Amino acid sequence: MSIWNLKPEPVIGIDISSTAVKLLELSYSGKKFKVETYAVEALSEKTVEDKKIIEIEKVGSIISRLVKRAKPKALHVAIAVAGPDVITKTITMEEGMLDVEMIELIREEPAQFLGEDIDEIHVDIQILGANEKEISRVDVLLAACRSETLEARITALELAGLKTRIVDVEKYALENAFLAVTKNDPEIDENEIIALVEVGATTTTMNVLGEQQIIYNHEEIFGGRQLTERIQERYELDYEQAEYSQRTGGEGLPDDYETEILNPFKDEIAQQISRMVQYYYSSSSYGKLSHILIAGGCASISNILEPISNKVGGHVTIVNPFVGMSIASRVNKTHLMNDAPALMIACGLALRNFDENKN
Ligand SMILES: Nc1ncnc2c1ncn2[C@@H]1O[C@H](COP(=O)(O)OP(=O)(O)OP(=O)(O)O)[C@@H](O)[C@H]1O
Ligand SMILES: [Mg+2]
Repeated sequence: MSIWNLKPEPVIGIDISSTAVKLLELSYSGKKFKVETYAVEALSEKTVEDKKIIEIEKVGSIISRLVKRAKPKALHVAIAVAGPDVITKTITMEEGMLDVEMIELIREEPAQFLGEDIDEIHVDIQILGANEKEISRVDVLLAACRSETLEARITALELAGLKTRIVDVEKYALENAFLAVTKNDPEIDENEIIALVEVGATTTTMNVLGEQQIIYNHEEIFGGRQLTERIQERYELDYEQAEYSQRTGGEGLPDDYETEILNPFKDEIAQQISRMVQYYYSSSSYGKLSHILIAGGCASISNILEPISNKVGGHVTIVNPFVGMSIASRVNKTHLMNDAPALMIACGLALRNFDENKN
């Protein structure tokens, strides 16, 4: 029993992704979430690669600017790690062990995947519950990350005067936001089988929810970066110029952009999602998807829904992680709604604030 029962410091969510840093703060009162503040700033090329921060100081100063602009109340943060330096795995272990004993026993396993030196790996576990087949054993979720990768994030935040309180794995932050959307959106029946496809810059992830649990996850290397590269190549632009033109629907680009570059890419997104849906049907037996939600920056491409719906069929919509939430008056609602599909991970992280005292 703790004597003072200190309340944990509230956190904001910060998603350091491959194309941008995204900050989001939520509050909760009267059974309702509220978007208190948010800010996004684009990253230049090669600042973050393979989900790993290459230029720590640059990211630190971007986070400082975001904090100055958004003025969040909390100065503690929930962040996520992802990419080749992170592994997650469910294992079964004897019941009744202390967490530290479990970690000591399993530390060697992630070391085999991530590198040779165990001391360079950060390991954490979460007990999921009793194993279905052997009741004397428990299922344990193991998450491991190369320390250097994690420390780069913590240092970048420290440079901006922020403290890391929660380290999540990107895919669980995404799942967390997905679960919240299915609960908060009156148009979605959370008991049905629903898919979320997030088309980011470098990766496209499909999650499927059944009986209010994630039952399927699949990732492909595909995303908006391919479009950026094509714009760069065709119009001889550098990364920043191409990325800017892409996000603004072709600003400054010749008239043939839409027909020659953008429309074929939209068809490719539709094709990619369709392939992932078919793969879901052929590799699992969870049943028919009743609803497909589209997320990630590429969901903000104008009129992207039509080619996807035509190719995939069924009920397809663009996700809104802020559905059912109120929005503080200082937040620009139009900007927020435009950025919303790309804020799923930031939202899943900001929601971690309420894990302990809600639901
Ligand atoms: N309105 C838009 N039109 C076209 N493309 C857009 C638009 N908005 C964002 N994008 C593209 O979406 C991508 C960014 O999406 P998102 O923010 O989800 O990715 P990320 O989280 O940075 O990357 P990842 O998770 O793959 O590492 C970029 O390629 C960007 O150019
Ligand atoms: Mg992302």
